[in-house]
Amino acid sequence: MHRAFPNAAILPAVFLAACHASAVTPAPAIEGLPVVRVRHADGSDATDLRPVGAPVSTSEKDGTVVTETFKDAKHALTVRVCKKTFTAYPAVEQWVEVVNNESGPVVLDRVESSAPTLRSPNGVWLKHFTGSWANELNPVEAKVEKAVSLATKRGTRVSEDTPPFFFLSVGGPIQENKGEVLAGTLVWNGNFAYDIAPTEGGVVAHCGLNPAGSRYTLDAGKTFVAPRMLWMRGQNGAGELARTMHKYIREKVLRDGTKTRPVLLNNWEATGFNFDEKKLVGLFDGAKETGFDLFLLDDGWFATKYPRNNDKAGLGDWEVNPKKLPHGVSFLCDEAKKRGLQFGIWVEPEMVNPKSALYEKHPDWVIGYKDKPLDLKRSQAVLDLTRPEVREFAFKVTDDLLTSNPGVSYVKWDCNRHITQPGSTWLAVDRQENLFVDYANALDDIMARTAAKHPSVEMMLCAGGGGRVDLRSLRHFHEFWPSDNTDPVRRVKMQWEYAAMYPAISVCAHVTHWGKRPLKFAFDVAMSGRLGADIDLGKLPPDERKFTARAVATYKKEVGPLVQFGEQYRLESPYAGPRAAMNFVSADKSSAVLFVYQLKDGEPAPVRPQSLDPKATYRVREVNLEEGKTSSLAADGKEITGETLMRDGIAPTCRKAVESTVVMLVKVK
Ligand code: DGJ
Repeated sequence: MHRAFPNAAILPAVFLAACHASAVTPAPAIEGLPVVRVRHADGSDATDLRPVGAPVSTSEKDGTVVTETFKDAKHALTVRVCKKTFTAYPAVEQWVEVVNNESGPVVLDRVESSAPTLRSPNGVWLKHFTGSWANELNPVEAKVEKAVSLATKRGTRVSEDTPPFFFLSVGGPIQENKGEVLAGTLVWNGNFAYDIAPTEGGVVAHCGLNPAGSRYTLDAGKTFVAPRMLWMRGQNGAGELARTMHKYIREKVLRDGTKTRPVLLNNWEATGFNFDEKKLVGLFDGAKETGFDLFLLDDGWFATKYPRNNDKAGLGDWEVNPKKLPHGVSFLCDEAKKRGLQFGIWVEPEMVNPKSALYEKHPDWVIGYKDKPLDLKRSQAVLDLTRPEVREFAFKVTDDLLTSNPGVSYVKWDCNRHITQPGSTWLAVDRQENLFVDYANALDDIMARTAAKHPSVEMMLCAGGGGRVDLRSLRHFHEFWPSDNTDPVRRVKMQWEYAAMYPAISVCAHVTHWGKRPLKFAFDVAMSGRLGADIDLGKLPPDERKFTARAVATYKKEVGPLVQFGEQYRLESPYAGPRAAMNFVSADKSSAVLFVYQLKDGEPAPVRPQSLDPKATYRVREVNLEEGKTSSLAADGKEITGETLMRDGIAPTCRKAVESTVVMLVKVK
């Protein structure tokens, strides 16, 4: 009997085998075969895949790939199921490759990447997230008792409602420090579908490309490589899993994951589209005085025929607007440099406003339906990157900007709409459904080429909507923009949830005036991420300006290195009580920083930091005090052992909503 290969959505039972024995957390044993459904060149839908030989193991520098090969009994179709385990992480990547050696094109109705079954007599819990613009990452957790589909068909990085990662917990709801938890995410920048459903004795998770509206026609002689599904395992709860994931993302996904990030000042919240050279240079002065490293110029600097003075025009025309910037971008770089600042700039190369010279010249360059009016979102359309000349154009937007302005050291790459009319004037009539996959691959290619050609330029991955970040795109970037909502009260919860997956170094956290919260609270929240600010420093009262300068200095000197490179421990969930608390510890446990955020009024009960050296003595010091204030922390200035701190905790100073306490713990012996 050959191993049954599912070619329909209804699967035979598959099993999650017992885990490999190992001293450290072993990789999850992802068993079971993903669904592959094909219409063959002869029109037949019947696929009968049979194993060919034994699985083949190939060593790679960071792990081993085991490939099982199957051939169809009647057609010249080969399917390879590949599974990579890593030497340094309890992770598995699984994917499928389909090789078409038939006499003509085949249609791939569905090619999943992975479909494991988790066995548990007590059930399996799923945690995933919903969200929308400015309201990202709301957690939903429930026992899997009916089929759940987590999916997007939005086509771009703006998945709007469904972030591409989830967690499965075996035997009970997810706990921070106990229990077996799996994180799953498709390493893909387009449509995905995770169909998670009860099956005999467990739960099966069918994961891969979203087949809706994207049957892929694969020409004879070609190979289709489905995206990799990454599974990461934690044996001691979501906290341990998150720390493993952070390590993996820092080491294997992010660009320069071990390099300190500059503290940046962005003009978007301060000026919107309403700026000129003089105003920007004025902002530089404030930035330097307060210790920022980099100034980021946002949207609105380009287009002449239809100047980009709002979001309705100019996108696609990437020449500098001489009315706003008469001396060009290089002048701004020079002015920034004179003040010891680096300079960054905003782009959105894959989009166009119909009110632009680009669209007037190339109306056929956009994604849309030939016979229907163009459906616009934020007054813009998506460029059809499947067309080679459009791909080249989009690549050159950033490439030309960086090449002609070598002083630009940072790029914010935005994406403000999704695809609603998946039609291409480039793809043939019988290849229209290839659009979603070909578009995603083309965009990834542009990003990869940009990163490769400009290795020293840092890049922020920005997008609208609830999805925002995926592990495929993130490989070309240093960080991502988690939400336009920068109200620190909302950010406490969002950053808490992002931390389940993404390391703090990758999560851009800017101080703004959203929510009109105390500046200290806004800084304290942003300082537990990759700190930046989006404020007009010139408009701050003198005491707040002084506070800003001290907070930036504190982040650069002692808090930032711990947040960016330390291990994160989530201590008190903002969903469980009136406050949230977390600490970051350096690898050698010589220092730690503790953050406590009061979201509602409450009592200053002690917060217990984790993972200190129990035998070491730490000096306790409250930092980020408002101008003119001294610490009222009972433990401030005291020397206390790690054991005592972890057992008895520290009573923070905050007790009222939007108060916060940040405490440094530095080992003295
Ligand atoms: C959306 C981003 O999230 C904002 O930060 C800003 O860059 C705007 N786009 C600019 O249009």
